[in-house]
Amino acid sequence: MFRDRLRSAKLWDRIVSADEAARLITDGMTVGMSGFTRAGEARAVPLALAERARRDPLKITLMTGASLGHNLDRTLVEAHVIARRMPFQSDPVMREAINAGEVMFIDQHLSETVESLRSGQVPPVDVAVVEATAITEDGGIVPTTSVGNSASFAILAPKVIVEINLSQPEALEGLHDIYIPTNRPSREAIPIVAPDCRIGVPFIPIPAEKIAAIVITQSSDSASTVEPPDAETNAIAGHLTEFLLNEVRRGRLTERLQPLQAGIGTIANAVLYGFTATPFHDLTLYSEVLQDSTFDLIDAGKLAFASGSSMTLSTQRHRSVLSGIEHYKQRLVLRPQEISNHPEVIRRLGIIAINTALELDIYGNVNSTHVGGTHMMNGIGGSGDFARNAYMSIFVTKSLAKDGAISRVVPMVSHVDHTEHDVDILVTEIGLADLRGLAPRERAKVIIANCVHPSYREMLAEYYRRALLRGGHTPHLIEEALGWHDNLRRTGRMTTATASAISGCR
Ligand code: COA
Repeated sequence: MFRDRLRSAKLWDRIVSADEAARLITDGMTVGMSGFTRAGEARAVPLALAERARRDPLKITLMTGASLGHNLDRTLVEAHVIARRMPFQSDPVMREAINAGEVMFIDQHLSETVESLRSGQVPPVDVAVVEATAITEDGGIVPTTSVGNSASFAILAPKVIVEINLSQPEALEGLHDIYIPTNRPSREAIPIVAPDCRIGVPFIPIPAEKIAAIVITQSSDSASTVEPPDAETNAIAGHLTEFLLNEVRRGRLTERLQPLQAGIGTIANAVLYGFTATPFHDLTLYSEVLQDSTFDLIDAGKLAFASGSSMTLSTQRHRSVLSGIEHYKQRLVLRPQEISNHPEVIRRLGIIAINTALELDIYGNVNSTHVGGTHMMNGIGGSGDFARNAYMSIFVTKSLAKDGAISRVVPMVSHVDHTEHDVDILVTEIGLADLRGLAPRERAKVIIANCVHPSYREMLAEYYRRALLRGGHTPHLIEEALGWHDNLRRTGRMTTATASAISGCR
């Protein structure tokens, strides 16, 4: 069995302990690790590195696909290993270190990291650490539940450490499609014309000689942190479904819709899950993260094919998907994140992109990353890759946060990730604003009327009325525009309305 996983006999003598492998990483290096939204990360080597750093301090730049499971970001921060981190994270301890200025975080569009490496715009990867299902006869690495940036890290790094995880089923082999864009200046078009196109090979092609160490591990992925749907997420799903049904009635979409992308998180998962009870059929996903809802839709006979870069699942779904992977595999492909999120492909396929906002403003600008304009939450992730290039860019959010102390619709967002130009549709549990073809003054009216919680609606309408008196294409009271955020910073609430008045309106 073990030899089925490590099929190149000349690599057998590279098997070492995690401690030995971690010794290949030294102070000041840039390390590219596998892992994308808590799936498919190398685990043993980073843990061994953290352990060593507690005795013998060192600092590295850590690049991954996206966020890591198994508290790896936390453990590495607590061992003071991380000097720089890119391109995404979602760990509370890492977040604190970033916001304290201890870790330099480079928050990047997820499609861009390996482009900047390839072109030498950021320092090169010294060592790649990649989780694998198997290594082929020629040294090809078969990834596990994510591809992320692993392929380019392994191709670009001079040394590669592979963790073969015996817990990941061998049947994962064949799920991946590894394609690396050709070199500039004569780069060819990426030949994906439908979500189910396979354009590469099912393993990461590197010469066996580059594999410097192999570590055998056995542990499952961390479970996703997605909460089950609640009344508000169901209401958001309901508004969006009704809107899409109307698009079908008007002949702008068919019941197959367009390929869908849904961002990570509870709301996007709930929206997709909501499609199980609609007339939509033969749906496809061209997305980044495949969550529980992907498999709910496949099981309901609604989803014909899903393309992503990782599978991030609840404990229960993880069990059922991995044990039934032979069944699901014919409807799935996992790609490098550069390809799953590639602007060229997103624009060609005409994606309906559904992502989550932290806050949005009366003109449709969206903040996905910065609390209060200053404090990093997770990062922009793939939301910008999709929103900027989608056929239809949708942002969803609940209208309130922190028990009503915060309105997630504000006069002016405190940080802009997605400008008004990249946002077509906004949805809260209150309702939906269709911003397509509207000028800023028209957008403000629709957003205030349809998306704002009743407890903040009149205050926002009053702000807008006074702003209108000043005129402008995009009217604002510039000295007040961030006033709600300032109130929040000073008093813990966005406005002076009492808690009972706000909760009474819910
Ligand atoms: N101001 C201050 N705090 C806010 C807030 C606001 N406007 N909106 C939400 N919060 C707080 C919430 O109260 C919550 O705090 P808690 O954990 O202490 O309860 C926290 O921020 C998270 O809010 P929540 O609504 O639960 O977030 P989520 O899990 O739905 O995630 C994003 C929302 C925007 C953070 C998340 O979707 C994200 O990181 N997006 C960027 C990446 C992305 O979109 N990728 C898509 C491609 S996969």
